[in-house]
Amino acid sequence: MRRPIVFLTFFSILFPFISADAIGKNGIVVSSKQVASDIGINIMKKGGNAIDAAVGVAFALSVSHPSAGNLGGGGFMVIKFPDGKSTSVDFRETAPKLSHKDMFLDDKGDVIDGLSRLSSLSSGVPGTVYGLGYVHEKYGSLDWKELVFPSVLLAKFGYPLDAHNVSILNNPYIKDKLSQSKYSKSIFVKNELYEVNDIIIQDDLSNTLNRIADFGYREFYYGKTADMLIDFMVKNKGIITHDDLESYKAIEATPIKFQYRDFNIFSMPPSSSGGITLAIILNQLENLDFNNLTFHDSNHIHAMVESEKRAYVDRHKYLGDTKFIDVPIDMLLSKEYSNNLFNSIDLDKSTPSDSFGVELLNQDNESNETTHFSIIDSNGLCVSVTVTLNGWFGNGLTVDNAGFFLNNEMDDFSIKPGYPNMYGLIGSSANQIAPNKRMLSSMTPTIVTGNDDSPYLILGTPGGSTIITSVAQIIINTIDFKMDLKDAVERKRFHHQWLPDVIQIEKHSLSNEVIDKLYTMGHEIIYRSDVGIGEANCIMIDGSTYYGVGDSRRGGRASAY
Ligand code: DON
Repeated sequence: MRRPIVFLTFFSILFPFISADAIGKNGIVVSSKQVASDIGINIMKKGGNAIDAAVGVAFALSVSHPSAGNLGGGGFMVIKFPDGKSTSVDFRETAPKLSHKDMFLDDKGDVIDGLSRLSSLSSGVPGTVYGLGYVHEKYGSLDWKELVFPSVLLAKFGYPLDAHNVSILNNPYIKDKLSQSKYSKSIFVKNELYEVNDIIIQDDLSNTLNRIADFGYREFYYGKTADMLIDFMVKNKGIITHDDLESYKAIEATPIKFQYRDFNIFSMPPSSSGGITLAIILNQLENLDFNNLTFHDSNHIHAMVESEKRAYVDRHKYLGDTKFIDVPIDMLLSKEYSNNLFNSIDLDKSTPSDSFGVELLNQDNESNETTHFSIIDSNGLCVSVTVTLNGWFGNGLTVDNAGFFLNNEMDDFSIKPGYPNMYGLIGSSANQIAPNKRMLSSMTPTIVTGNDDSPYLILGTPGGSTIITSVAQIIINTIDFKMDLKDAVERKRFHHQWLPDVIQIEKHSLSNEVIDKLYTMGHEIIYRSDVGIGEANCIMIDGSTYYGVGDSRRGGRASAY
């Protein structure tokens, strides 16, 4: 059951116009699971900062949200410090040293069905545990053990499944996927249907977390857990080696920073495409006077969709791991560049996607899972984090006796030129597989500050290729349509990614009249078949008061104090 919107009389008097799921003055955590958000808040109550809380929340999600939260995957973090400084940490998976560009192709050069998604070859070298250890060592304040231990207990004694856990675990496709691995099956698949509040115990995961708590994050890369992972690789024809694990590093870098109207936006640099693509969308839209637009009218949808198409063309053409290719970041972020793109938009007519080049071969949309959480502490330290295994439960394979799933992030590479990944994103040579390279991501953890640089929004979402356009919509909804956060998050979403040349819309979103108008402008439109687009777990800051909103699409939960 969803928690009701907090709209207490007391708060209604003090803050009459802002609705939220939780309101606080000392700290807020918004994540996919109540138990994870609560663990984050408890860490801050004990004196931990938002980084400590982020570590605790991420480990708690690896237990309570095992389809996306993880030890065997990767992610990205954007941080804004109270003194005005900002940073980003890339703990994306990395291609193993034995990988090569044609590893998912047969002798004829055709893609081998399922290899980049369901086999042990689909896993990149995991980065999550390293990333969490890295930020804790550099920016955390509490003892590491204190942050990991709540999750040791959560795995050992279990947690009550929520409606979202249940809907995933009862999904026949997932049952089948998890049943391919004896070990995954033994933990998560049962003949009867799961019900809300059923308890899942994960003893092996608890032991793994306990080792990480005791010996620190390096245990995952050098200790018994590393041995277990490599044994699994050897037995299952995987290619990740001890050398891969031992050479894994998180990468700290200056965030992508740009201005949108009176606001500053801090987002993720490559290996995520998120920050740059978001900048290209918003920089184009800055040319538009939203005072003349009605929300979800055809003109609003058309202008956004056209700017999205152009930004996704650039994502395809230019973006990839900057250690391997030159990305013209300054050019792509310049206002002049996006102004020229905006000037190429016909405000009455769709620009066909094939007029930009490259043909779509086919599209296979596997359902997928990622998870985003946002945190702010009493000092105003803001943390925006997105982590993933890529597909639901990654490749579905659990490391025997270690209890954690492995990612299938290798599918985010361009496995063959022109061949789409599971989100229909077409690859180019910029994102070709190479040893030690990071696959291009769409994850877009983002922080927005006002013109005095005080925090305004902490946001992000899962959703594969739709992540960037969802983040853009929430920013536009708050800044241009002046919605409060609850409204901005809950309003229906739409998405265009250049190819395929269709506007994807959530069910019950646009009126028939608007849909007809968009057709006459030359657009194709399809409904999303799944529950909705993304799960944006966000925070809005108004002076010293924090507002948290968990996206109802997948049951996000906020805790505050
Ligand atoms: O990094 C990426 O862009 C994808 N692997 C993210 C996957 C995702 O968001 C799935 N979520 N629903």
